Amino acid sequence: MRISIVGTGYVGLVSGACLAEKGHNVICVDVDKDKVDQINAGRCPIYEEGLESLVTRNVGTRLSATSDLAAAVQDTEITLIAVGTPFDGVAIDTGYIEAASREIGEAIRDKDTFHAVIIKSTVVPGTTDETATPILEMASGKKAGKDFGVGMNPEFLREGVAIPDFMKPDRIVYGATDERTFALLDNVYSVFEGVDIIRTSNKTAEMIKYTANSLLATLISFSNEIGNLCTGLGDIDVVDVMKGVHLDRRLSPILESGDRVVPSITTFIEAGCGFGGSCFPKDVKALIAHGQAAGQQMNLLQSVIDINRAQPMQVISLLKKHFDSLSGLKVAVMGLAFKPGTDDMRESPSIPIVRALHDEGAVISAYDPVAIEEAQKVFTGIDINYASSIEDAVQNADAVVVVTIWDEFRSLPEIIGKLTTPPLLIDGRRMIDKNAVPRYDGIGMTSRSKGP
Ligand code: UGA
Repeated sequence: MRISIVGTGYVGLVSGACLAEKGHNVICVDVDKDKVDQINAGRCPIYEEGLESLVTRNVGTRLSATSDLAAAVQDTEITLIAVGTPFDGVAIDTGYIEAASREIGEAIRDKDTFHAVIIKSTVVPGTTDETATPILEMASGKKAGKDFGVGMNPEFLREGVAIPDFMKPDRIVYGATDERTFALLDNVYSVFEGVDIIRTSNKTAEMIKYTANSLLATLISFSNEIGNLCTGLGDIDVVDVMKGVHLDRRLSPILESGDRVVPSITTFIEAGCGFGGSCFPKDVKALIAHGQAAGQQMNLLQSVIDINRAQPMQVISLLKKHFDSLSGLKVAVMGLAFKPGTDDMRESPSIPIVRALHDEGAVISAYDPVAIEEAQKVFTGIDINYASSIEDAVQNADAVVVVTIWDEFRSLPEIIGKLTTPPLLIDGRRMIDKNAVPRYDGIGMTSRSKGP
């Protein structure tokens, strides 16, 4: 099929490269000429594991980029809109969706054959039908559902594993206004054999995306609230509690063979120092605002956000439990990215933690395997010794604080074990065995030691 994709950001380029890899002919459209040139030269303007090799392999054959949106619409049967929808604190900003719809509509005006326009960006329920469609109709002078089609096809890509997530999806969801658009979407996704497909309305497709992310965020805040309660009640460790909860057969089914399946959802039911990233915080806040605007109180999701906002400060409270003052205290921060496998600092719990340490006068060293360059852009004006290794960061530290669950931090007990004066380890992710280091405290437990 001939597919055009507007926006060569994260979602647009991953979708474009993967659909080309699957055999479709894809034209990526972006106003940014530099990005267009890079893609056409087989280079990748953003970092995502495995993306550049897909771009390189397909460019010049099934993948190309252009700034000429009208020509791309003429040359293809279907256009996916994958532009940004930033959250401005009150609502998502649909300005880029509106601009793209206007331009695509104008191109459809001059087109004789049926064309479908699909929103792929994350948009609150109603946006496709109530915002994009009227603009497309106005600009094209044609009727949606009759002269051209409109659909909604959310993405479920996790940063860092977006390529495998796209190539081997767990589900494909799309809505459409009419059967011709459904048929075009069926064709786009016919290359993914055996995958569960949900064909629904545009509004339901939009809601599925928000509901999926809100559920995961809720599980995290729920686990954090329980963890904080374990700390408050004393002598209960949230790690033991969650182990007992995970073994519920409805969470970890027992097969006929007697073997147990441990689904990855259980990793969201663990206490830590909070969630971040470009999706969970923004999507949950946007859904709350959208619900409230519709007269619906969103008390549970508001609590999810409130708990998450406060959660990074648990790490600071733990430090204060052990040290009378943080002023002059040498603290090594382990991990700055919002999650492992990425250098993305957006909404990372490390941001409030580092800022609080700075405000309290701590002497900060920090280590992250990949995010230091990004972190430097965030922490301007804060004096941080960016270490080049874990060893370097924890050298001479009074306390080591684990913020991101990078696998290599599992070597901390061994590294700390070699130091003459072992620092206190504050485990913001509960990833280290509490008995593996001489001095340990963490989210959701009671530590025995008091004082340095
Ligand atoms: C998230 C969703 O997982 C994707 O399904 C969705 O498509 C995407 O948002 C999106 O809306 O575009 P992402 O933000 O890349 O993906 O990151 P996740 O890996 O889900 O991590 C989000 C937060 O959850 C992180 O702060 C991470 O620390 C936390 N998390 C993640 C856990 O607590 N446990 C886990 O097992 C995974």
